[in-house]
Amino acid sequence: MYQGTDGETLERAMQILVALGDIYGADRLVQVRSVQIAGVSFKNIGEAGLEWISSLQGQVAVPSILNPAGMDLCRWREMGIEEEFAVQQFRVVEAYRRLGVSVECTCTPYQLYASLAGQGDHLAWSESSAVAYANSVIGARTNREGGPSALAAALVGKTALYGYHLDQNRVPTHSICVEADLLEAADYGALGFSAGRAVGGGVPIFSLNCQPSPDHLKALGAALAASGSVALYYVEGADLKPPWRDREEDIIITKEDIQHVYQEHPAQGADLIALGCPHCSEAELEQIAGLLEGQRVRTDLWICTARGIAERRPDLVRRIEATGARVLCDTCMVVSPATERYRRVLVNSGKALAYLPGLCGTQAAFGNIECCIRHAVGGS
Ligand code: F3S
Repeated sequence: MYQGTDGETLERAMQILVALGDIYGADRLVQVRSVQIAGVSFKNIGEAGLEWISSLQGQVAVPSILNPAGMDLCRWREMGIEEEFAVQQFRVVEAYRRLGVSVECTCTPYQLYASLAGQGDHLAWSESSAVAYANSVIGARTNREGGPSALAAALVGKTALYGYHLDQNRVPTHSICVEADLLEAADYGALGFSAGRAVGGGVPIFSLNCQPSPDHLKALGAALAASGSVALYYVEGADLKPPWRDREEDIIITKEDIQHVYQEHPAQGADLIALGCPHCSEAELEQIAGLLEGQRVRTDLWICTARGIAERRPDLVRRIEATGARVLCDTCMVVSPATERYRRVLVNSGKALAYLPGLCGTQAAFGNIECCIRHAVGGS
C-alpha cells in the first residue's frame, strides 16, 4: 500500500499513517475496530477539505461513522442555513458516503452502536468527547485523531501504535479530589471545565463522593477535552483501572470552584438555549420532554441529538417539539454556522461553554438543565 501498488488513495492514506507513526515513534500499525471521523462541517473544512475528500477512491476497511455536520441534513432551512452552504455541506457528506462511511453524523456513536467499541479495542476516533468516552468509560484505546488521519485509518483499517494505545501513556498524572456534590450533567460539565484548565493534556484520576451515570461521564469527558486537552481520565472505584499508579500531582476542586463556573457565565440575556453537547441520549431527551411538558418556548431552544436516537423515540421528539423547541439531528450548536446569528447562547455543557466564543463568536452562558428550560419558557 505504502508503495502505491494498491492505488493512489491507499498510498496517500498509508503515507499519513506512517508519517504519524514516525513522528510519535510507533514501531508498527495496529488493527482498529472502528473509526469516527471529524472534519465534516463545511464551516470547518471549507473548499480545501471538500476537494481532498472528493479526490479519494475506494471503500473504508472498517465500520466508520461521521461527526456532526454544519446543519440538520433534513431541516437545514428551518435553521436559517444559506442554500450555498447547504449545497457544499451535502457534497461533503456525499463524498464520505461514496467511501462507505456511515453518514449518521454524531459525536456519540457509542449511544447508537455498541458494536463500534469494546473494552481493549483499538480505535481511531477523532471527536474529542467521543475519544474521552471511548478511552475512559468504554475502556477502548484511541488517540485524538485529526480528520485526515482518521479517514486514512478507515481506508487502511489500521492506525499507528502510539500514544493512548500504549499502557505507558495511560497512567494517571493528576489525582483530583472533588469536594462537591455533583447532581447532574451540568455539574460534571462544570467540573470538567475547571479540571481541564488545571491538567491540560494530562490523565486525571477523580475521587468523587457520588456515583456518575454514563451521561454524567459523557459531560465530564467532553468538558475536560475542551478546556484542557484530556483524552483519558479515570474515576476511583470505577471498573476501568489504570495500568499502574505513579507519582501524581494532587489537585482539590471545591464546591466554590464548581459554583464559580456557573456564576461567571450567567444565563441572563441569552437569545438561544442549546442542549445536547455531546448529543443527547434517550434518557436526556426524556428528561427534557418532562421538564418542558405543558409549556411554550419563548426563546429559541435547540436540542441536538443523533438522527438514530430521534428516530428511536419519535414520541419524545413530538412532545418536545409541541412546545416550540426544535430537535436537531446531524449537527450541533458549535459546528453549525446557524449559531453565529445569536448573541449569547445558554448551554448546560462545559464543552460548548469552552468552544462557543472562539468558534462561533457568541457569548456563552452556563446553567443546569432546569435553568436552561426556565430561561427558554420564560423568555428573559
Ligand atoms: Fe458534539 Fe458538537 Fe459538542 S460535536 S461534543 S455536540 S461541540
